[in-house]
Amino acid sequence: MALTYAVLSTVSVFLAGATASQLLKWQLFNHRDHDIHNVYTALENSYGHGGATNLVNTLHAYIQETLGHNWLFIAIGPGGQVLGGNVHALSLAITPGWSSVDGAQLGLTGGRRYRVYSGIVRNKVRLVVGMKFQQLGYLGRLVQTSFEWAFVVAVLLAVVGGSLIAHRMQRRFDAVRETMDRVSRGELAARVPLSGRNDDIEQLSGDLNSALDRLAASVETMQQVSADIAHDLKTPLSRLKMTIAEALDKQERSQPVAAELESAAAEVDQVNRTFNALLRIAQIEAGARKTAFKPVDISALLTMMDEVYREVARDAGQSFSVALPATAKADIMGDRELLMQMLSNLIENSIRYCPAGSSIHCSATAHDDTVRVTVADNGPGIPENEHERVLRRFYRLEKSRTSGGTGLGLSLVKAVADLHDAELRLDSAHPGLMVSAIFARRRRPVAT
Ligand SMILES: Nc1ncnc2c1ncn2[C@@H]1O[C@H](COP(=O)(O)OP(=O)(O)OP(=O)(O)O)[C@@H](O)[C@H]1O
Ligand SMILES: [Mg+2]
Repeated sequence: MALTYAVLSTVSVFLAGATASQLLKWQLFNHRDHDIHNVYTALENSYGHGGATNLVNTLHAYIQETLGHNWLFIAIGPGGQVLGGNVHALSLAITPGWSSVDGAQLGLTGGRRYRVYSGIVRNKVRLVVGMKFQQLGYLGRLVQTSFEWAFVVAVLLAVVGGSLIAHRMQRRFDAVRETMDRVSRGELAARVPLSGRNDDIEQLSGDLNSALDRLAASVETMQQVSADIAHDLKTPLSRLKMTIAEALDKQERSQPVAAELESAAAEVDQVNRTFNALLRIAQIEAGARKTAFKPVDISALLTMMDEVYREVARDAGQSFSVALPATAKADIMGDRELLMQMLSNLIENSIRYCPAGSSIHCSATAHDDTVRVTVADNGPGIPENEHERVLRRFYRLEKSRTSGGTGLGLSLVKAVADLHDAELRLDSAHPGLMVSAIFARRRRPVAT
């Protein structure tokens, strides 16, 4: 990259320099021609005032003013006689108008060249005015030398600057590579160091770091889930082992083992339920069911819940009520079966964790763009600081550890809400728990 930059800037400096020096030379030459022509015109005008004599006098005045042969002048009369000038032999080859002439042609030594203008004044006097090339050649060389030096300095700067920039870039890319290397060796906490600059590498590093954050978070979740599964299965499995040992013991003593077998079957059922729930959550989280979303009428769903749970709640000594939106339809796009599962989990929690005498209230409210579904009770509730944790797999409040349950009910609720892009909120119902899910409302095409 440094090399490319150096070559690119060298080429541009060269082109810019060449253009500038060419332009400058062109300007200088123009200026010189202008000067020569000015002198020629002055001499020509002097003829107008006093004829050939005056022209020759003016010519001599000019010759006096010029040093050596920096300038050359010559005036030739109609008969071919030299009227005046600072050169004697004038090659007739000098064409009218502009031309370049060798000093030798004019009888001068030193191999100089002249830029000359030649014309006929009033059809009588041939007048030639010229200027030494060296005069300009010197300026031209000055310009060229300046540009050559400027070029050298620019190339040096390009090479040194390019290498410096490349070195710094290299260092920063090395830091990124080193970080990725550490991550690939399992050090998930490694992050690309940020320099605080606002450039592309910094942005890329930031993006990499956030990707690593997400990766680390999901690996941590996975590790957590595996640990939780192992931990959660340990107890039922060791209980199962004890039950079987007991059964074997009893069988040796020819005692009936039906009770042990029954309890073993129940234990296996519980393990099975846990696995089924886990698999179901994983399946929901994979998001495949989203493609089968259909319009779901939330009011109809709550009416069904009312039919199913009113009796169950009454048996538990609790009251159960449902409030539906009065007029507006509360339709959403979703998976009816999963939404039913979600509501069942919430209602079953309320029934399970609230004492007799509590009341459970479900409602659906339709707003302009959203539908809010709420399950609330006035039981013991969940402390504010546990609201986030109860959504995790296997997490149960300390006091609920003794009652049956897998601790996966709310994880499934959360997974279903996420699948529907719904916002899930846990709030205190003062007293009790209020869980709400806010869905995007489905707009029906207006019937015409
Ligand atoms: N309505 C509620 N009132 C009080 N505590 C609740 C309520 N709902 C849930 N909890 C607490 O949150 C914990 C997590 O609930 P979750 O539904 O995820 O698991 P679970 O009910 O223990 O088991 P599962 O639903 O899988 O059979 C419960 O163990 C309980 O401590
Ligand atoms: Mg539950």
